[in-house]
Amino acid sequence: MIIQIIFLVFLIFALFWFLSLLIAAYSGAPTIYSKDKIIKKALYAVNLNKNQKIVDFGCGNGRVLIIASRGFGARGVGVEISPFYYLLAKLNVLFSGESKNIKIYFGNIRDHEKLVNGADVVYLYLLDKIMRKIEPWIFNALKKNTKIISITFPFKNHKGQVYDGPPKIYIYN
Ligand SMILES: C[S@@+](CC[C@H](N)C(=O)[O-])C[C@H]1O[C@@H](n2cnc3c(N)ncnc32)[C@H](O)[C@@H]1O
Repeated sequence: MIIQIIFLVFLIFALFWFLSLLIAAYSGAPTIYSKDKIIKKALYAVNLNKNQKIVDFGCGNGRVLIIASRGFGARGVGVEISPFYYLLAKLNVLFSGESKNIKIYFGNIRDHEKLVNGADVVYLYLLDKIMRKIEPWIFNALKKNTKIISITFPFKNHKGQVYDGPPKIYIYN
């Protein structure tokens, strides 16, 4: 009986994880994490500091925000559409001890567009398809001096500074 219960719990967990992967991939980008080295390189490139706020649209496991808070003293906000990775990001932030500095929201980027208003830095690691959807509104919504970091995928109609990779880092002012 115990073995059956363990098996059932494992099955439910695996199903939840698998559905979350599908949701991520279908919504705009599969969950592939930025490496710590790349995150730091990008955050140094925009001179992130402790008086600033960074928004990670599609925050995955929350690692970008944890590094931004722990290493740069910045406040962070993440949005994540995939239930598994949303919960993982919440847990990671909790265990990192950076909860006072970081908020994670569940949902689609398009329902959290307003977060851009308060951001000094926006971090994106999303596929071309969703970058094309974001481009028309995000540049209009930014406050003055806000910078956008995009890992690997550039915007089509805006020219950014390119830091050679792999992966390439695009910075838009
Ligand atoms: C390539 S991962 C990047 C994760 C993290 N930003 C990093 O760089 O390590 C993209 C994440 O965006 C999430 N995502 C994709 N489309 C989204 C959408 N429309 N709204 C919110 N999150 C989305 C996926 O679930 C996935 O976790």
